[in-house]
Amino acid sequence: MPKIVTGRVITAEGIPVPGIAVTNGRDVVATGGDGSFSVEPFGPFIAVTRPTGWHTDHWFTRLPAGAGDSTEITFELHATEQSLPYQFMHITDTHIDMAAPDRWAFDKGRLTTPDQLKEFLLDLPQLSPASRSVIVTGDLVDNGSPEEFAGLLDAVADAPVPVNLVPGNHDHMHLGRSGRISRNNYIVNDGNPELYEELVGPRWFSYDIAGLHVVVMDWHTHELGLDHTVQEQWLRNDLAAAGDDTPYILCMHDQPGHPVMDRLPRKPLATFSGHWHTSRVVDIDGVLHVNSPTPFFAGLDYSPPMFREVTWDGTGLQLNSRTMPAHYLHNPDHAFDVDKATVAGYDAKSRSSLVRWRHQLAGAGHRAGLTLAGDRIFAGSQIEDRPAGTVEALDAESGRLLWSAATGSAVKTRPVLAGGIVVVAEVSGAVAGLAAATGERLWTTPSTDPYRRFAWQSPVESEGIVVLGDQSDLRALDAATGKVLWRRTDLSPHHNIVTHSSPAIVGSMVMVGFWPTPNSPIAVDLHTGESIWPMPELQDDPWDTARNLRVTGTAAYDDGQDSFLVPAISSTAKLDRKTGSVQWTVQHEGGYSPSTPVITPAGYVVTVTGHGLRMLAKDTGGQLWDATVDGLAPFPMTAYRMKANPVMAAPVFEESTETLLLPGLDGVIRRFDLDGAPEGTYDVGVPLAAPLVAAGGSYLTVGVDGGLLALDLGAGS
Ligand SMILES: [Fe+2]
Repeated sequence: MPKIVTGRVITAEGIPVPGIAVTNGRDVVATGGDGSFSVEPFGPFIAVTRPTGWHTDHWFTRLPAGAGDSTEITFELHATEQSLPYQFMHITDTHIDMAAPDRWAFDKGRLTTPDQLKEFLLDLPQLSPASRSVIVTGDLVDNGSPEEFAGLLDAVADAPVPVNLVPGNHDHMHLGRSGRISRNNYIVNDGNPELYEELVGPRWFSYDIAGLHVVVMDWHTHELGLDHTVQEQWLRNDLAAAGDDTPYILCMHDQPGHPVMDRLPRKPLATFSGHWHTSRVVDIDGVLHVNSPTPFFAGLDYSPPMFREVTWDGTGLQLNSRTMPAHYLHNPDHAFDVDKATVAGYDAKSRSSLVRWRHQLAGAGHRAGLTLAGDRIFAGSQIEDRPAGTVEALDAESGRLLWSAATGSAVKTRPVLAGGIVVVAEVSGAVAGLAAATGERLWTTPSTDPYRRFAWQSPVESEGIVVLGDQSDLRALDAATGKVLWRRTDLSPHHNIVTHSSPAIVGSMVMVGFWPTPNSPIAVDLHTGESIWPMPELQDDPWDTARNLRVTGTAAYDDGQDSFLVPAISSTAKLDRKTGSVQWTVQHEGGYSPSTPVITPAGYVVTVTGHGLRMLAKDTGGQLWDATVDGLAPFPMTAYRMKANPVMAAPVFEESTETLLLPGLDGVIRRFDLDGAPEGTYDVGVPLAAPLVAAGGSYLTVGVDGGLLALDLGAGS
């Protein structure tokens, strides 16, 4: 006879509750008319699916070793208001870190302190009064240590609303961070979930809110293959118990790809995830996939810290994406209203006298900026509250809108003009060819994997060939037709942090430098896709391979020296174009500084995010000067940065005056001479993450609020 665990589900008044789902982590049973259940012991927990209209502080019980016939469990439910519409908050990747303050050298601080999360949760009644629960989709802590879990549990203990925790890969890292290639050719960290179960609780479970079934699963161990079979078995049982008519959402740390989605018993309404530290909202076959950025530091896609309010109205879900208030980002003084800036079209501030004209794009701006081609401007926009974006064409002289074309997801990239066709990459990886004259869609080349492609980098074009993608899936398209001319999927296994930079094209060479793999930049032939530079083998731990040259931005080509200048994490490298060999590397303290170096007669100017500008000698990389920039930016936008600083975009070199113009996240453009001396400032009043584009005597740019600006920069102030 198998052992049996028995128990009851009752109300606070002791009244039995029938028909409530109870699980051992594999089987799902329902309570009978007397509220009783019996289930075989299987995993470490017995958990109850909190039903609509009920809450319980203790929704799971840890089974004692050898639990069996004598084990009796009681779950006590308390009635709770769950009328429609029901709003909850989605946050992710809190990365609670208790390490020494200097561990994250970019900011000389920690990722997220428990106090930051605690304060944020305690403030919810003011910050997000309608949010009635919170879900945190993993990487709750940074190293998976007992101290971090203690900090996390303390931070959520006093939250005014229930906080539901989903495990991520960092939550399973207490034994180390070594990397491996998963069963789906994905670079992941190894992991062990035992400490999480010991200190936090179940890793897969469900609960109901106002008629919506919420399913939580452990992506990391599923991907590693530690327990995907039992997780899927549990899910089938759980969804069967919920009933076919009950809509559900799936919450996992990483966005579920084919290995998860293709095996679901039925489609969810939506999925909610994190892991990438990005903002990405896409619709795939009628399912909404919401990938959210980190709340307390900036994202790998250069999103500012954000959180999402999600409203369930009984039939569908609405998103309200919000930028984290400056108060929580080490910048209490900044008065700029950031709430919807960077996530929706938003008139951030009244016009400055420097603004010749302003056009509001349909969505928010980004760091990619715009393309100026002859007398026309092309720019994309992102709408982060739904799967949508736009490409817009303007008259460069007047700012008059010529056409606007809707896209299926955000456009965080710069459109490229090839012949009479505007080619644009959506964040989903789908590529569209639009008639430059009218915006009419001429062709669409679908994403190779809409679940997993995160197109943050702009396509580049030469000879009518458009190159785009990342090193795990690099494609060349015929700009006229969208036809795929060649495709490389062998340059790297798939990883989440891949698409920081656009390729650089020189002649028929496409230079593709990406982090984290492989360990040296890639050069392939524009026409055939064949490798030009030698490719090193991946080492046993792919992360070790990655640590050599961590390319994070688009290279500049110095034709005078036949060399590439490559922005890498915390460094700049100079590569010989013919061989790809490194000529010199210099270190910077800026961490992720993705801006393309600027080639001037006096030297190379590199942008050190969070710090300022630096000029390097062409032959040696030696530092010629360093200019520090400080100012009151409302939020950070470069990866992992917690403290706001103006410096993010590259400066533009103005040849006529031999000066540099640096746009800032504090809304100020700064002019420097080629000795690094400040020559004046221009207060535009809107945070600028994109570079300036020279247009005759004036400059064009896109503010984070989606305002496309034509600026007359006079002498400055
Ligand atoms: Fe994370």
